[in-house]
Amino acid sequence: MRKFLIKGGKPLCGEVSISGAKNSAVAIIPATILADSPCILENIPDISDVQAMFEILEQMGATVERLDATTYKVDATTVTITNVFFPQVGNMRASYYLLGALLGQKHTANVLMPGGCEFGERPINLHLKGFKSLGADYSVSGGLNAVISVQTEKLVGGYIYMDVVSVGATMNIMLAAVKAEGTTVIENAAREPHVVDLANFLNMMGANIKGAGTSTVKITGVKELHGVTYSIIPDQIEAGTYMTAVAATHGTAVIKNIIPKHLEPIFSKLVDMGIKISINYDEDSITVDATEKFHACDVTTAPHPGFPTDMQPQFVVLLAMAEGTGIIREQVWESRFQYVSELQKTGMNIVIQSVKKKDDFLLIQGGKKLKGAEMTATDLRAGAAMIIAALCTDAESTISNINFIERGYDCVIEKFRNLGADIQRIED
Ligand code: EPU
Repeated sequence: MRKFLIKGGKPLCGEVSISGAKNSAVAIIPATILADSPCILENIPDISDVQAMFEILEQMGATVERLDATTYKVDATTVTITNVFFPQVGNMRASYYLLGALLGQKHTANVLMPGGCEFGERPINLHLKGFKSLGADYSVSGGLNAVISVQTEKLVGGYIYMDVVSVGATMNIMLAAVKAEGTTVIENAAREPHVVDLANFLNMMGANIKGAGTSTVKITGVKELHGVTYSIIPDQIEAGTYMTAVAATHGTAVIKNIIPKHLEPIFSKLVDMGIKISINYDEDSITVDATEKFHACDVTTAPHPGFPTDMQPQFVVLLAMAEGTGIIREQVWESRFQYVSELQKTGMNIVIQSVKKKDDFLLIQGGKKLKGAEMTATDLRAGAAMIIAALCTDAESTISNINFIERGYDCVIEKFRNLGADIQRIED
């Protein structure tokens, strides 16, 4: 079994450069299915979810060529397969974007139920509601290998109000609607940076999408989309994870290749805690300095521009290193505290205050000395939190299930080592 072996105790210092955004890449790669000529995609992170998405596309008939470490040429004009039942589909969440892209281009798709990190129920009813409002019929077969089927003779623009803000549904409906006849309006749309990134990519291809990044997105259908060269945005959550790791170890470092605006919800919390942040807009970098004491705060997750749920586990560790008692409330996912028992193995003082499922919250008593532990990653972001926790002890820790971490963190060993961490991958 592959594990990370981490010897903690040193403040993280130096610099780290952020890779392309996972949650942009996993949508933009299937979006190439909509183009009538090849696309060049730049700033693509080398992570397993991205590799899986490329493999799926190749099995569907596309040609994928790696031009350099972060640049790929994708020719999806040769995609013929609309029955997408490859094992990679069931192992990742973002495979639901194949539904929107195939529906938009081929008017039919049969896709294995998406899998991915499990933290409670992860419904797709809003995606399906959106497809239906564009005129498509859908069905979901039951059983172990459930398949989602969508099809229509033609797509016609529609109006979709989302009673829950959903990143995936917003982006999937955009994919399905770009070539529909007429205008589609998505109300209460998600405003995450990757929603805007996908819209920018599609608009460069010739789409007509207005309002991405606000809660009303208007998509006027076009007949054709052409291939483009596009560089995806830096990963907001990867940047936030390194900022938090540096702060939790009382280090100081420069986080490079970022878009400061995307990080506001994260760094404003660090500032509230007394951690020094300076932004260099010319260099697109941010410096975190936590060499002095910092104090606890309360955090409630919310859709963008609120505090991101994907930073919630990492902040638990940060609060454990702060002075005082911090509170974490999760308001996006129903059940995203299942990793807490793993972090508690380090001696971290975390109490789950049970109210009723979505209203549970965490009380984190800071300032306790942590000890080395054998932890098991329960999902991607929880795995990242475990790395940070291990770095905050002055002993040796191991983390297993590292495949979760490799789904979303490019060169994770190399980047932490550049910051001075003692971390290695071992075979146990
Ligand atoms: N929801 C519904 N119905 C739907 C879809 C979502 O009720 O049809 C609910 C969910 O149950 C949840 C809320 O809406 O309570 C938000 O879910 P959303 O659809 O926004 O999540 P997602 O698109 O499936 C993406 C990221 C997640 C991230 C969330 C929230 C990708 C591939 N995944 O998921 O990222 O947590 O948005 O920001 O983009 C991660 O990167 O570690 C990760 C889990």
